Parts: sequence; C-alpha cells; structure tokens
Amino acid sequence: MAYPIEITLRPGAPDFLDLPWDMPLSEWQGRCSRLEELPRGLSRHTVLFVNYSGEIFALKEMRPGVAEQEFDHLALAIEAHLPVVLPIGHAITETQSGQHSVLITHYLENSLPYRLLFMSQGFVRYRIHLLDAIAGLLVRLHLSGFFWGDCSLSNTLFRRDAGALQAYLVDAETSEFHEGYFSPALRFHDLQIMTENLEIELADLQASGLLVDTHIPVSGAGHHIQRRYQQLWEEVTREDIIGANEHYRIQERIRILNDMGFSVGNVELSALENGSRLRLRVVVTDRSFHRDQLNNLTALDAEEMQARKMMNEIQELRATLSQTSQRSTPLGVAAYHWLENFYNPVVERLQPLIQEDLTAAELYCEVLEHKWFLSERAQRDVGHQFAVEDYLMRFGDRQAFRSDN
Ligand SMILES: Nc1ncnc2c1ncn2[C@@H]1O[C@H](COP(=O)(O)OP(=O)(O)OP(=O)(O)O)[C@@H](O)[C@H]1O
Ligand SMILES: [Mg+2]
Repeated sequence: MAYPIEITLRPGAPDFLDLPWDMPLSEWQGRCSRLEELPRGLSRHTVLFVNYSGEIFALKEMRPGVAEQEFDHLALAIEAHLPVVLPIGHAITETQSGQHSVLITHYLENSLPYRLLFMSQGFVRYRIHLLDAIAGLLVRLHLSGFFWGDCSLSNTLFRRDAGALQAYLVDAETSEFHEGYFSPALRFHDLQIMTENLEIELADLQASGLLVDTHIPVSGAGHHIQRRYQQLWEEVTREDIIGANEHYRIQERIRILNDMGFSVGNVELSALENGSRLRLRVVVTDRSFHRDQLNNLTALDAEEMQARKMMNEIQELRATLSQTSQRSTPLGVAAYHWLENFYNPVVERLQPLIQEDLTAAELYCEVLEHKWFLSERAQRDVGHQFAVEDYLMRFGDRQAFRSDN
C-alpha cells in the first residue's frame, strides 16, 4: 500500500488510505476498485470519483500547494452558508510524475452537470432557469465578499428546485475572499469573466451539435445573466427612505426579501432631516430562509424554492387547524401534522419514481403543481391523495419519459 506524504481530513471522513496514491490520478483506472463513472463538466485537472460505502467523493489532482488553498476557500464559503461543494480534505502525493496536491470534496448528490441539461430533450424547460440560477449564485457570493474569478458552466453544478434550478459552485481555485469592502469593479470583473466563459462554452456546444432546440442565445447568455444579476443586486442592497411613522415598511421590505429566499440579519435605520425621515438598509445574510425554516421544523432537507412551497402549505394548514380548533396552532404542530398526513403519504406513493437526480422533494413539488392544475379545473381543492394518484397515472412511467431524452 502506498500512502500519500500527508493527508488532512475533516472528522468523520474515511481515511482514503487504500487508494493507489503512488500513481497519478490519470492512471488509477483498472487499479482502483472504488472508482465510479459519473457525468461531469470539462476540466483541466484530472477529476475522479470514489465510492466509500455508497458515499461518493470527488478527487482533483493539482499542482503542489493549490489543493490546500482551494480547500481553505471552500471551507470559508461553507462557513458563510454559500452553496458550494463540501470540502473533505487534501493530500500531498509523490508519484512517478512528481509531487501533486489532491483536493477531496463530497460529491454533490442529485446534481446535473450543464452538459446533461443541453444534451437531453427532457431538460429543455430548465435551460433559461440555468442562467437565472447562475445570476442568483453570483449575487450570493458577492454579498459575502466572495470573488469567484472563473464562473463558467463547467464550474457550476445544478440541482432541481421546484421546477427551477439551484446553482452550486464546484471550482474555487481562482476565488478570493474580500472581507469588508468588495468593490463594484471586482463584481463587474467577475461578471465579465462569466460572460466570456459562457460564450466559449456555448459556442463549443453549438459547434459539436449539442445545442439543439435551445432558448438560450449563444451571444446573449452572459448579458441575460448580467441583467438578472443587476436586478437582484439592486433589490437586495437597495436603501429606502421612509417616513418616521412608516415602520410597517420595514416589515414589508423584510417580507419581500424573505419571499425571495433571502434571510435578513440586521435592519439598519439612520435618521435624516432631524428624524422626520429614516434611511432603511437591511443586511442580507444568505438565501436559505425557507430551507432553514423547513429544516428546523421537519428535519427535511430541501432546496430553497421547494422549501418555500412546503412552508406555504404548512402556513395554510396552520390557519385551517387554528380555525377548526378555535385556538392558535403553533407552527411546529402544523408542520408535524403536514409531515404525517400530507408529505409522507405522498412521498411513499412516489417512491418508485425517485432517482439520483429527481429527489422526493422535487417530485412532491411536482404533485403540488399537479394538484393546483386539477383543482383549478375542478374549481375545488381535489386533495393530495387524488392528485398523487392522477399524477402517477399520467406520469408514472418516468422510465419511458427519461429514455426519450
Ligand atoms: N464535489 C463534486 N461533486 C460533483 N461533481 C464534481 C465535484 N467536484 C468536481 N466535479 C465535477 O468535475 C468537474 C471538474 O471539476 P473542476 O471544475 O473543479 O476541475 P478543474 O480542472 O479545476 O476545472 P478548470 O478547468 O475550470 O480549472 C466539474 O465540472 C464537475 O462536473
Ligand atoms: Mg473547473
């Protein structure tokens, strides 16, 4: 057995010591029984996936010293609750081809690399969401002072989120953390890099004939993201001037930001014109408001938009329960009732359709959408049970749907 010269790992991770560390990653094929074939984006470095008792890890081989730095940046991003791949460790190896550093990250489950989103007919409806998801990711990173330096399709992973997509950063090699002041020039620079990278990647896809039936214009994709980014940035960082007796506008602003998924850390008020008017600024912390709320109440792990739909149901249920019992029902009680009587029974029926990239939470949201559609048509609430049975009858043959793609 050949150990790495040094390996640093997070607690709870496997020790990875049975891997053939004396060889460069490019030669592990056929020599390592833990290797897994999984779809991935284009990359300069060799990236391999290994399986430890069903848990998948990504290994990326780099120049000496580089993996440690990327590990540190990813760890800082995780601390700031940013959507990035989870860093597990890094190693220094000595092989026939010299010394290398290897970054180990947790494989982002249920994720779709962008190439799959372009190559499959069934994913066409997600493509415009893909651009919006990148804009949302850049805003979140920049709010936390995180400069990416290499935003591209290959460096982003996508997870389905209630019919839209949630973007995750996978490659932090060029990133920088700027504590305190993060200049507009730097934000602009990141957007320029993104635009250039996207144009190259989309032109490549077009040249290889993969960009069929797309709603994404090759040359306009970067600009679309820039526009979405500006709108979102403006909404999140805007300062409002409110009247001294317009305190309700503070709650209104927080509610709008929460609806967009942003959690608000601090509200800052400063007096203007002898206090007759106030300057209102809110400090946004992250974009997992509903996700955290749902997780605290039910322990379910969902993406932000999925969680928002589920929290809306829980809130509605709470109102109904309060009305029936003629007393105020705590949110936790409504959440428990929802889990037992709605979510769990529906997910149990959907079990055969759950797949690697189609989670229980996403399927549940599809059933909610279907229920809404059926209820509109019937002009009454058809109920979860009816909706899930009808959904299974119409779309139960997912296998056929997917093999069409
Ligand atoms: N933790 C992970 N989970 C899922 N996929 C991953 C993970 N790490 C890497 N990948 C896949 O491997 C691909 C390459 O990884 P990465 O972008 O980090 O390599 P790179 O060589 O640094 O890229 P570049 O050429 O942009 O410098 C990604 O596009 C992604 O599809
Ligand atoms: Mg990359």
